[in-house]
Amino acid sequence: MKLILLGPPGAGKGTQAKMLTERFSIPQISTGDILRAAVKDKTPMGLKAKQYMDAGGLVPDEVVVGIVRDRLQEADCINGFILDGFPRTVAQADALQTSLEEMDKALDRVISLDVDAEALVERLTGRRTCKDCGRGYHVQFDPPRVDALCDACGGSLFQRDDDQEETIRKRLQVYADQTSPLISYYRDADVLIELDGMQPIPQVQEKMLSLLQAG
Ligand code: AP5
Ligand code: MG
Ligand code: ZN
Repeated sequence: MKLILLGPPGAGKGTQAKMLTERFSIPQISTGDILRAAVKDKTPMGLKAKQYMDAGGLVPDEVVVGIVRDRLQEADCINGFILDGFPRTVAQADALQTSLEEMDKALDRVISLDVDAEALVERLTGRRTCKDCGRGYHVQFDPPRVDALCDACGGSLFQRDDDQEETIRKRLQVYADQTSPLISYYRDADVLIELDGMQPIPQVQEKMLSLLQAG
């Protein structure tokens, strides 16, 4: 299955991608996670990306397009993949289309998660992430069993640098301006599924699986 999860910051792309990865044994490709790893390792790409990420803006298209093109060539993508947070501009979507055609592949589905702006801010200000395995939590909606520790691996939880309210509002604006046009882009390509992302996590999961299984 070759999927894109589309949606604003905090829509639940990462949360749902982790579940789909286990279910279908295909990798989650999160450009945000790849970029944060590069920032942490202080690679040249990471040092360049950091300024855009801290400001809540987008990293230049050529950087992320290159990351994804290389990642899709890896062996674990042979049976499919879940793109989480890519593409985010029409130029990225066009570049993805070209890469897939070169590999003789095509997208199966693009799932667009729709969530109200105020709920997004609430989700992002309360998000916590495991520093060791990357699992996401929410202080109120999905708390860990033991405060500040990961249920899965016992790692400590941290708050992302860009999850401050001012940066969140900037990211939401960038989504509206640069990424939301992809909803009609993929509707026109006849691969779009629109899903109400306002339900609790397990209900969104269930609905997503039933829509995917319906083909
Ligand atoms: P990225 O890491 O992709 O961030 P994002 O798109 O802003 O999305 P998030 O990860 O914040 O949200 P999510 O939808 O994954 O939500 P989650 O599941 O965690 O990108 C970061 C930055 O990198 C960008 O700003 C940009 O600078 C750069 N970048 C990345 N990709 C790029 C690209 N392609 N081009 C250019 N630049 C790029 O859930 C959020 C919280 O809500 C969690 O706490 C979770 O527990 C909770 N939650 C989830 N679902 C529910 C639910 N149904 N009900 C209640 N709570 C829920
Ligand atoms: Mg995410
Ligand atoms: Zn963990």
